[in-house]
Amino acid sequence: MINFFNNTFYLNTSNSSYIIYILSDGILVHKYYGKRIKEQNMDYYNLYKAYDYTAVYFADGEITTMDALPLEFPTMGRGDYRTPAIVVEGKSGKQVNDFRYSFHRVFEGTATVPGLPNLDCNTENVQTLEIILKDRVTNAEAHLFYSVFEDIDIIARNTVIINKSENNIKISKILSATVDFEHSDFDMISLYGRWGNERSVERIPLRHGQNVISSCRGASGHHSTPFLALAEKEANENYGDVYGIALIYSGDFELGVDVGQFDNVRLFAGLNHETFSWELEPKESFVSPQTVLTYSDMGIGKMSRNFHKMCRQHLGEFSKKPTRPVVLNLWEAFYFDISEEKVLETVKNVSKLGVDTIVIDDGWFGKRKNELVSMGDWYINVERFPNGFHRVIDECERCGLKLGLWFEPEMIGKDSDFIKEHPDWCIKLNEIEPIVSRGEYVLDFCREEITDFVFEKLSSILSKYNISYIKWDMNRNITDMGSSSLTDNHQLEFSHRYMLGLYSLINKIKTAFPNLYIECSAGGGGRFDFGMLYYMPQIWCSDNSDAIERIDIQYGTSLVYPPESISSHVSAIPNHQTNRVTSFYTRGNVAQLFALGYELNPNIINDSAKASIFQQISKHREIESWIFEGDFYRLTDFDNKNYCAWQIVSKDKSKSVAIYVVKLTKAKRIGNYFRLKGLQSDKNYKIEQLGISLSGNAIMYAGFPIKNQLDDFESLFFELNME
Ligand code: DGJ
Repeated sequence: MINFFNNTFYLNTSNSSYIIYILSDGILVHKYYGKRIKEQNMDYYNLYKAYDYTAVYFADGEITTMDALPLEFPTMGRGDYRTPAIVVEGKSGKQVNDFRYSFHRVFEGTATVPGLPNLDCNTENVQTLEIILKDRVTNAEAHLFYSVFEDIDIIARNTVIINKSENNIKISKILSATVDFEHSDFDMISLYGRWGNERSVERIPLRHGQNVISSCRGASGHHSTPFLALAEKEANENYGDVYGIALIYSGDFELGVDVGQFDNVRLFAGLNHETFSWELEPKESFVSPQTVLTYSDMGIGKMSRNFHKMCRQHLGEFSKKPTRPVVLNLWEAFYFDISEEKVLETVKNVSKLGVDTIVIDDGWFGKRKNELVSMGDWYINVERFPNGFHRVIDECERCGLKLGLWFEPEMIGKDSDFIKEHPDWCIKLNEIEPIVSRGEYVLDFCREEITDFVFEKLSSILSKYNISYIKWDMNRNITDMGSSSLTDNHQLEFSHRYMLGLYSLINKIKTAFPNLYIECSAGGGGRFDFGMLYYMPQIWCSDNSDAIERIDIQYGTSLVYPPESISSHVSAIPNHQTNRVTSFYTRGNVAQLFALGYELNPNIINDSAKASIFQQISKHREIESWIFEGDFYRLTDFDNKNYCAWQIVSKDKSKSVAIYVVKLTKAKRIGNYFRLKGLQSDKNYKIEQLGISLSGNAIMYAGFPIKNQLDDFESLFFELNME
């Protein structure tokens, strides 16, 4: 998997090769990343060129332009003017670094990334390369880690900087990975959005200079996702070279593609340097978040499937394959107007429908009656719940249901009792009133006494009541960044320290309550990333629960994240965000192959809706064990305005399910054939809903007939079984 000869490292996965070369003076050069190639002497692939008006240097005796050389760990100030992977200031205060190879080691398993979520080993066929470099300017040591997951074509990278000098050093920029390519014939694919419209797909040609997506909001954000892909121009869902890169991190980040003056490309990912700097005393070290890279020779679809497999095999809680609850979340049912009486009536009405967890959302605590009051007062409102949660839980248990509860642990209300007791616990500048959003301030999670206090508050409820599930919400972006616990020259450490505090709190809660299932939410999908998925195996994908809008949101999300990570709830009509009316069947179909749940008031729905819930959940329970291990295929392009279709094929290819949903119909066509993917060509499959059997290759290439004229928002669900 990892080999070293002729000063060259070969990192091989089943389908990819990643090659690094050490120049004779110790500078690390990136040789190649792409389809697996035979290990061979790569001297011919040297890219040494000297151009006029550039800083030149002798690479292995050949005169070379630094700005043209593909570098594995690029720095500033030595002739490469593209995006640097690291900027460290030593005693001189200069931002010039010159890292040279010192030694390396290879070990079995993965790199550990202390304090941060990272890929676990869990399977064989994982090896790690650690390359140690030394900066001639500051004496800092850089440890570059490459964990190679052979079977799933994933390489996880991160960097540790150790201060080996006798003075303090300051890291003002650290990326977790850069990858250089010698050409720029790529499109960049990223996911943008806003509240209620998260993760729309954007595909653009590269322009010269930096093409960057980033967040400085203290969370990965609704507006961006810590992921991007480089796709060769011809690549689509099923064909072509595609490189995916994503961070296992939930805070401020930057990812981008820098197109240099020689049309060379540098892909990069790491912490957002605008909200970051870190001072290290002698012997101290800094660990960067992990970045994952994948290469697909079969288009965007395979890139997604590689990421999905990575989560299922190696990503913390996610890989433990927790039993996924089918929840009824009560937010859209009652909003803030929740009470024991209403929950009891709900329990009665859903107890026979197959739902297994009822989630009491916002409104159960303090004096909470709207979004502006009581945030952080984590005691039960006894006017609403006179028996605490005892009666509700008793009733749930009697009916075979579990109880889930909503929290927003990171925030504190402007008017809360909490802030009266601890006025200095929110993030604020010294003299200036902090920005309020949704009536909330942000707690300073850099301070351990604060995360400890929040832990105690949550634990007091979780240890008193049998609560199996929490929805961990975060409803605002961070402003006024800084912490009273940090001295002036450490203030830019705030954003990353906040994340470390948050991860450590979640860890503590998971350790104290190991069976607790946590769903992540951030005003819907404002913090959908691998960092959160490491602890919380599913994420509320969007506050927009309209089935038709959800198609695009789930489509974009599935580019990176597995379907079972995407909480998808069937909600009421007219939909609360769009006023749109769709059938129960279509709402169910849109949610069925994801983390299915409900977001409606069962006390006011009719018997036919109840029967649909029962049927949808029964079907979901029947197929979940194999769909959430299977291969996910998007069958339409992201910009198809008229319909959308997706499919899951079981690991052994013996079963498949496919969904077809019309967004806006077109006038009658002469025929309508639905073509699927990933089946076994020479086997026959019965298409249950049509009662016909066809060969795998007929279904994949000719397709099977579906209704010619489908109405707006109509949908179809197909199950296939190998005969
Ligand atoms: C935002 C979440 O996304 C919603 O589902 C709901 O929990 C509200 N917060 C409650 O305030």
